[in-house]
Amino acid sequence: MQFNGYDYKVSAAGRVNLIGEHVDYCGGKVLPAALSMRNTVYIRPNGTDKINLSWTDLPDKIELDVNRLGEYRHLKHAKYQAGSLYLWQQAGHKIVGCDMLHDCTVPFGSGLSSSAAIEVSTIAAMATAAGEKPDSVEIALVAQKAEREYAGVNCGIMDQYVSANGKKDCAILLDCKTLEREYVPVRLGDCEIVIANCNKPHNLVESKYNERRAEVESALEILKTKTEISCLADLTVEDFEKYGAALHGKIKDRARHVVEECDRVRRAVKAMRSGKTEEFGKLLAASHASLRDLYEVTGKELDSLAGAANAHEACLGSRMTGAGFGGCTVSLVKKEGVEDFKKFVAARYESETGYKPTFYEAELSDGIIREGV
Ligand code: GLA
Repeated sequence: MQFNGYDYKVSAAGRVNLIGEHVDYCGGKVLPAALSMRNTVYIRPNGTDKINLSWTDLPDKIELDVNRLGEYRHLKHAKYQAGSLYLWQQAGHKIVGCDMLHDCTVPFGSGLSSSAAIEVSTIAAMATAAGEKPDSVEIALVAQKAEREYAGVNCGIMDQYVSANGKKDCAILLDCKTLEREYVPVRLGDCEIVIANCNKPHNLVESKYNERRAEVESALEILKTKTEISCLADLTVEDFEKYGAALHGKIKDRARHVVEECDRVRRAVKAMRSGKTEEFGKLLAASHASLRDLYEVTGKELDSLAGAANAHEACLGSRMTGAGFGGCTVSLVKKEGVEDFKKFVAARYESETGYKPTFYEAELSDGIIREGV
């Protein structure tokens, strides 16, 4: 009876990706960090074969049958919980009847991975209630499977991985080909990270996302006939100059983005480690330009928001973060200029688009946190 009548409190993080966008499913390295905005699950076993879901900010009450977890794809809110529990069960883990209260502080549709936070925390909470102690990488992999097979987004591993494995005050340099990781302390000198939500409702994200994946997969098939690679991230920028002639039009642009973005990640990590924040900022701005011009996943609102940010003197660089087509930007801003930056960006963005942005203070946090265990 520790948490308002629940036995355990288990949460997982939302995330911001600092750099390395749309490269995780091409075997690239990414640099995301877990946020203090998270999904928290309060859970208690109930001795039945039913899972009762409720939410702190929704009136819905949903009952899932533990023997029919594959049948809830049509549910609007509960599909992420049902999907992750179904895939966890399919992976051979124990599912127990329980009451689960969800409390999510990651804004939905913001590009800060509310869905990964829900999937990862749901699995981690269930494992805790069932007395299992799974590895958090396994949780991330099953959560990714749930997003792909149950929610229908053919996503990479970045979001679920960092939601489960994040570390306070660090980013993770994650090699999405091998799943090797390194924690990189986020030291930004006299700067801080500012996250801004463009507040334009997401639409078509899933279909556009899957379309981009298909495009880079077709680029890979063509390039494989020219040189020995297993993923686009295997190519250096010089290799691309050599073999890229085999590609044309949009497909070539998409592949060029991936290859150059992988290169920017390498340079960004080096810049952060050696305290070169100016250089880090320039790479953020270059990443946005590439996502706008070559990968075409930004859209009017994100371009306006990042454009306003990049125009402010206290900003060293700004870019969209996450899948794109709406959602958030991440900006590197001199601490002393943050308040003025927010005012300037809000005014310019609103006059250009009619939307008001929301700013979040980014605290970098641990991934899964279990209490009451
Ligand atoms: C979404 C996906 C990730 C990744 C990003 C783009 O957040 O879930 O796997 O592909 O888009 O970098």
